[in-house]
Amino acid sequence: MTILVTGGAGYIGSHACVELLNSGHDIVVFDNFYNSSPEVLDRIKEITGRSFLAYECDMLDEEAMERIFSENKIDAVMHFAGYKAVGESCEKPLMYYHNNIQGTLTILNAMARHNVKKFVFSSSATVYGDPQSVPIDETFPLSATNPYGRTKLMIEEMLRDLYAADNSWSIILLRYFNPVGAHESYMIGENPKGIPNNLMPMINKVAQQELPVLKIFGNDYNTKDGTGVRDYIHVVDLAKGHVKAIEYIENYNTIESINLGTGKGYSVLEMVHTYMRVNNVAVNYIFTDRRPGDIAECYANPEKALRLLNWKAEYDLEKMCRDSYLWSVSATKR
Ligand code: WQD
Repeated sequence: MTILVTGGAGYIGSHACVELLNSGHDIVVFDNFYNSSPEVLDRIKEITGRSFLAYECDMLDEEAMERIFSENKIDAVMHFAGYKAVGESCEKPLMYYHNNIQGTLTILNAMARHNVKKFVFSSSATVYGDPQSVPIDETFPLSATNPYGRTKLMIEEMLRDLYAADNSWSIILLRYFNPVGAHESYMIGENPKGIPNNLMPMINKVAQQELPVLKIFGNDYNTKDGTGVRDYIHVVDLAKGHVKAIEYIENYNTIESINLGTGKGYSVLEMVHTYMRVNNVAVNYIFTDRRPGDIAECYANPEKALRLLNWKAEYDLEKMCRDSYLWSVSATKR
C-alpha cells in the first residue's frame, strides 16, 4: 500500500516510516517541522535504503492537503501530526484545539474527497484520564484531564461519528502508553526542542550533564516506591504495531481502539536506576512536589492488540534505557 504519513519527521512518525518501508510499503510524508527537522527524512532514507516523496506543509493548509491527494495515489493515512505537550496545552488551549482538531478535519475532508477511507490515528492512553484500576483495557471509561488529552478524545469521538455515518471507513485508534527509546541505528530518536516535558528525554539530558538534576515529581503516591508508575514501550515496538494496524484495515471496514503498551508498569525510580545500571552513568535526582495533573499508575492490558493484530511488545526496559542513552550520545555529537 501507499501510506500518507502525517508528521513523518516526528519522533513516532519517523520510526513508523522506517518500519513501513522495511515492510515493503510505499510512503508519502508531510511535516511542518514545528517540532522536528528535515534531516530526519534523509536519515529515514539512509536507514532503509528507500526513497519517498516528502512535502513541507501544514495540515491546516487545505490547498496543500488537496495537492498531496491529487498528486499521489494514497491508499491509507497514518496520522501523527499534532501538538503533544500537556503543559503547553494548559497554557495555550485554543492553539491546541485549532491545530489538532481542525488539522485532523482538514485531512479527513481531503481523504473523503479522494475516496481514501483507511485511517490509523495516533491516540493516547491519556484518554483514560485517571483510571479506577490497572491494567487498563479498551473498555475503560474515557475522560481527559488537560486540553492535549481532550483533543485526542475529541478526535476519537469525531472518528466514531464518522464511522457511524459511513461504515465504508476503516479506522484504528492506537492508544499509546509511554513511548521511549530509539532506532538501533541511533540516527533517529526523541529530540525535543527546549526543556523536555517527558521523563526519558529529561533523564538523557541529566546524564549528558546538559541539565544539573532530574526532578522526580512526587514520591508519595500509593505505588511500589511512592513514585509514578507508567507503561513504557520501546518506540520501535510501537512503530511495528502501526504496521500491523494498517495491514489489518487493508481487509476490514471497521473502527477499533487498541492499546499499544507492554502491560508492565515501571516506577520513575525503577526507570532511573535501570538507566544508570545499563549505561553505567550517574543521574542526579531530587524529589519534588507532585506535578499537577499527574496520576499515580497507568499501564495497559495489551491483550486486544495480540488478539486482533497479532502484535505484542518485544523489547524490555533495559533496551529502552540503552537505546535512549546511545541515541542521546549520538545526538549530542551530531
Ligand atoms: C512519566 C512519569 C512523571 C518528568 C505524557 C502524556 C502522554 C504522552 C506521554 C504524548 C510521571 C514523572 C516526568 C520529570 C518526573 N504524551 N516525571 N520528572 O505524563 O505519563 O504522559 O507523556 O504522547 O499522553 O500524558 O509522561 O514522561 O511526562 O511522565 O518525575 O522531569 O515521570 O511524574 O510519573 P506522562 P511523562
